[in-house]
Amino acid sequence: MKRIQAIIRIVATGGFFVLLYATFTIGAYFLTAWIYRVVGHVPPPYLIQVINSLLGGVALGMVSFAIAVLIGARPGRRNMGVFEPIFAAMEQIARGDFQVSLSSTSYRANVFASLLAQSVTQMAEELSQMEHLRQDFISNVSHEIQSPLTSIRGFARLLRSDELEVSEQLHYLSIIEAESMRLSRMTDSMLKLATLETLEAPGERKLYRLDKQIRAQILACEPEWAAKSLELEVAVPEIEIVASEDLLSQVWSNLLHNSIKFTPRGGKITVEAHANEAGIDCGISDTGIGIPEESQPRIFERFYKVDQSRERSNAGSGLGLSIAKKIVELHQGTIKVHSQLGVGTTVIVALPGTAEH
Ligand SMILES: Nc1ncnc2c1ncn2[C@@H]1O[C@H](COP(=O)(O)OP(=O)(O)OP(=O)(O)O)[C@@H](O)[C@H]1O
Ligand SMILES: [Mg+2]
Repeated sequence: MKRIQAIIRIVATGGFFVLLYATFTIGAYFLTAWIYRVVGHVPPPYLIQVINSLLGGVALGMVSFAIAVLIGARPGRRNMGVFEPIFAAMEQIARGDFQVSLSSTSYRANVFASLLAQSVTQMAEELSQMEHLRQDFISNVSHEIQSPLTSIRGFARLLRSDELEVSEQLHYLSIIEAESMRLSRMTDSMLKLATLETLEAPGERKLYRLDKQIRAQILACEPEWAAKSLELEVAVPEIEIVASEDLLSQVWSNLLHNSIKFTPRGGKITVEAHANEAGIDCGISDTGIGIPEESQPRIFERFYKVDQSRERSNAGSGLGLSIAKKIVELHQGTIKVHSQLGVGTTVIVALPGTAEH
């Protein structure tokens, strides 16, 4: 029915303009005939025809333009009505309120409005998710910062007492020192992660010896693993890799520190790497406390720690694995964990594009 109405409307409009054109051409005929009479010269009939048609066309064009300007303003206003809820929703989003409800079905008659409503709704949902992540991040940061600050404040207060033995004073001071170092490591990790999140690619890559890098990292944390009498087995052949050397150092360091931290005295850590067609696989395994199955999918989340109440010596910020994952992903690689509670953990990093010698 609507289609028939539309066809009738088009035919009627066309007819109206044809009629208008005929009227203007006839008008032009009388006008030019009078001018020829006054001037006293009549041009040849074909020229008269051309002049009358041209004048009729010009007049029609001018009138059509005037009508278009007049009518054009109206439908514009009428169409704005369809878009008004969408504009209102956009203003709401700009004010920081992402709870918009635009049902695209209400715009079925206007395809453009419907698409716009869908996009605006999707944008609001994504912004709302980002806002939740931001709020989570802020509450995690303040929570993580609160706990060392509370310790520092508490032990500093205790130190005011005159009745403390020197050994007690030294003990409290060492706790204050450890907690402030933890705070400093945490802010350092947060800054690293924030910087990494802004990157799309790992920056400057170069060809270097991966085996040397891993051995250097193992050596750098020797005081920690030696202090716990951990055995270190290294099975890494000569491998060259094209990557960002600084960033990958951070990955091996974070993984090694985890293995050292979560493996009891006398345990063993094994570092293996091998190159294949696709790239390299590097695995760091330990005979440590392991990770419960339900926690394994979450350990790469920012601030996630399996046991929040771990003793102070083990207290980290739960950012090490997020940083490692981000760096590996910037290199188009993957990082996976296999772990069994009470038996041990293996973290495998796979990186593409390498060459073995
Ligand atoms: N090798 C491992 N053995 C047992 N648990 C592990 C191991 N590696 C990681 N985890 C668990 O995963 C959690 C997250 O690790 P992640 O390295 O991100 O944080 P963290 O070591 O606690 O703190 P940070 O690395 O920021 O100092 C750890 O708190 C721990 O519960
Ligand atoms: Mg860690």
